[in-house]
Amino acid sequence: MNSRRLDGAVALVTGASSGIGASAARRLADAGARVFLSGRDAERLAEAAGLSGGTALPCDLTDPDRTAELAARVLDLAGRVDILVNNAGQGWAGPITGMTDAQIQALVAANLTAPMLLSRAVLPGMLSRGIGHLGFVGSIAGRLGVREEAVYAGTKAGLSVFADSLRKEVTGRGIVVTELVPAVVDTPFFARRGRPYPRRRPRPVPPDRAAAALVSGMLSGRHEVCLPRWMYLPIAVRATLPATYRRLADRFG
Ligand SMILES: NC(=O)c1ccc[n+]([C@@H]2O[C@H](COP(=O)([O-])OP(=O)(O)OC[C@H]3O[C@@H](n4cnc5c(N)ncnc54)[C@H](OP(=O)(O)O)[C@@H]3O)[C@@H](O)[C@H]2O)c1
Repeated sequence: MNSRRLDGAVALVTGASSGIGASAARRLADAGARVFLSGRDAERLAEAAGLSGGTALPCDLTDPDRTAELAARVLDLAGRVDILVNNAGQGWAGPITGMTDAQIQALVAANLTAPMLLSRAVLPGMLSRGIGHLGFVGSIAGRLGVREEAVYAGTKAGLSVFADSLRKEVTGRGIVVTELVPAVVDTPFFARRGRPYPRRRPRPVPPDRAAAALVSGMLSGRHEVCLPRWMYLPIAVRATLPATYRRLADRFG
């Protein structure tokens, strides 16, 4: 990464109090960006902001009004956003019949609605300047579907198609839209959703590796980055040979 590229740039990273987001904020700051970090846990957020020399802006993204305020606050403080990293997300594992209405709505709001609202808020400035980076942290769950993660997978599938469609809308206008598609990352994500990662493969990768893949993908103009790279294979098989994919998925889970 060419660190000079981000000197003076303003970045907003959601979910920056933990895991991939905290590492991404640090990487963007190391590359010279002025970073605004958002998350819910004020203490962990302040710690992450301290490590990246950035500004902590606590916000619960399940509330659309707070989400709109977050974007307005950064625009007010910095005058613009050059890099938006839509990373915040929460998981839920178990049969959908075990979910309450509120749990479903919270997942959709944080994982899908908030990235849409934040993107819409920062895009006018990016478009008028003719430059900007929009990063989205999707999931392999959103590409392949996962049993007993239907709502989570649905939010991530929506996020992926949103990013893809947005890219078509802004193409040729200086805006780079990048989706990171991680399989398994070694973060508190699984503990928080209340069910540990149940498989041996794909192996969890460190959060900083995911953050590095996202940031370098954004800066080099990539549309999508799968992590690990071999996850492109099941995605391609599902897209080109859906019946074969379903048979293999039924057999191997
Ligand atoms: N870990 C994996 O294996 C994996 C795989 C594929 C995709 N992902 C995606 O990667 C992204 C980052 O997750 P992670 O693995 O780094 O997990 P993490 O360590 O649990 O971090 C999640 C971050 O999202 C924030 N967040 C969650 N719900 C929020 C809400 N309602 N409002 C505001 N912030 C909220 C959390 O804030 P607080 O901690 O302050 O509440 C935290 O900063 C998520 O979108 C996740 O779906 C993760």
